[in-house]
Amino acid sequence: MTNKPFDLIVIGAGPGGYVAAIRGAQLGMKVAIIEKRPALGGTCLNVGCIPSKALLDSSEHFHKASHGFDVHGIKTGKVTMDIKQMMRRKDDVVIATTKGIEFLMKKNNITTFTGTASFKDATTLIVTNGKKTEEVSGAKILIATGSEVTPLPTVKQDGKRIISSDEAIALTEIPKSLVVIGGGVIGVELGSVYARLGTEVTVIEFLDGLIPTMDKELGKTLQRSLKKLGFKFHFGTKVTGAKVVKKGKKEVVTVTAETKKGKAVEVDADYVLVSIGRRPYTKDLNLEAAGVKLDERGRVDINESFQTNIPSIYAIGDVVKGAMLAHKASEEGVVCIEKMVGQKPHLNYKAIPGVVYTWPEVAAVGDTEEQLKDAGTDYKVGKFPFKASGRARASEDTDGFVKILADKATDEILGVHMIGPRAADMIGEAVVALEYRASAEDIGIMPHAHPSFTEAIKEAALAATEDRALHI
Ligand code: FAD
Ligand code: NAI
Repeated sequence: MTNKPFDLIVIGAGPGGYVAAIRGAQLGMKVAIIEKRPALGGTCLNVGCIPSKALLDSSEHFHKASHGFDVHGIKTGKVTMDIKQMMRRKDDVVIATTKGIEFLMKKNNITTFTGTASFKDATTLIVTNGKKTEEVSGAKILIATGSEVTPLPTVKQDGKRIISSDEAIALTEIPKSLVVIGGGVIGVELGSVYARLGTEVTVIEFLDGLIPTMDKELGKTLQRSLKKLGFKFHFGTKVTGAKVVKKGKKEVVTVTAETKKGKAVEVDADYVLVSIGRRPYTKDLNLEAAGVKLDERGRVDINESFQTNIPSIYAIGDVVKGAMLAHKASEEGVVCIEKMVGQKPHLNYKAIPGVVYTWPEVAAVGDTEEQLKDAGTDYKVGKFPFKASGRARASEDTDGFVKILADKATDEILGVHMIGPRAADMIGEAVVALEYRASAEDIGIMPHAHPSFTEAIKEAALAATEDRALHI
């Protein structure tokens, strides 16, 4: 069956695609969205942001109840963990959230197709789902097909013992031990979930520190906090293989690796999580039929208006260049649609924050010290530690700091990097500062509620302005 042409067809209902579809409908377009998963919401809602944060919250409650209540005078007796209930709650959170997107599609009169889309030509897509095949055509097509786990050639994932984040968010037992290959965002977040439940977590990271793309000081401080949680680390170490072997009645995975100096490393674990990055996903699209080109890294190649080499075909989110973040995908979705209809929207990539939901949380926006040094920018640093914050002491959350980097000559804030309690929420203030090109002094002279964690931002700003922090 051939459907009537749409003004816009969006392929992929992740945070990029579904947000773009809503914006298109708001601007009067007749919109269709095609999604191959049974539930809308993409990687983020189904197997990414939302389930991982649900598990991070549950495991943090368990860890607090097990180790953090005594000091408050709360006696609980032995605290136990029902992992199956933890997973059921996570599933409920996911279902409620993805159902919310279904509601939004209906509310905005967006036609939803469930199936895999592939191009027949530049204006027509074939949608198949095992039950039926349909053709859908549109004046404009937006590719928002996201990303998939990057495999590690030396470590074959079996989805049972050697797993990716997709399986790590759905384990039905608490592992005694877990090796995490890759100390990036997924490694430290999902590693934290299980370390808090009592799993012995070993991170094997190729580079010299955790979350290596962020400001180096954040990784170092995070490493100290995770070490307190029981994490072990092998940095500068390359994994050479992983094999499932029988040890007595038990199956374990033996991971072999080698340090930069050539020293052999071997670690046994119940499970191995491969989290070495994600790569753009275009596999099913049959892009050749439409003539759409990829760049040298397999991403859909776009111009500043998100147009591919075929002007009526656009792309956004994880499948194009840039950070693989849900809010980046959503912002691009909105801006792409607004450009399509001739508006002149604005997206400041420098103001896109990055957050790591460990405890303490890590959050950053703007340039890192390393980037400023590389660019030869003359900058100054203002720093405030949470151990000097009354609010942080009141909640026993004194690990971490806020660091503000400002231009030495103009005082303009160039980067804000924080690790500490509720950094994920506090980074919003720094985003506003960067977006409106605030100076450190602007933030330093603004009243901040007392007592609150945000006072650390004001103090770091004062420290950057004239070394005039008040409480250190
Ligand atoms: P996706 O969300 O990947 O959506 C693409 C959709 O397209 C998918 O549902 C896919 O099924 C569908 N699709 C693909 N090909 C076809 C086709 N041919 N036909 C039909 N449908 C198709 N980001 C954050 O900002 N914060 C976080 O806390 C966070 N946590 C994460 C935790 C984990 C474990 C993971 C894996 C990722 C996390 N991310 C997080 C990253 C975030 O999930 C992605 O950046 C985001 O989902 C990208 O959105 P997208 O719309 O580009 O693609
Ligand atoms: P990542 O890019 O964050 O980290 C991968 C890590 O693996 C890097 O530190 C890298 O040096 C290391 N590595 C690469 N090859 C290796 C090898 N062979 N051996 C050992 N280490 C190796 O990727 P990750 O953690 O898989 O996450 C994928 C994406 O998902 C990220 O780009 C991130 O943006 C997104 N995400 C975002 C979250 C958030 O915003 N809170 C949470 C989880 C994921």
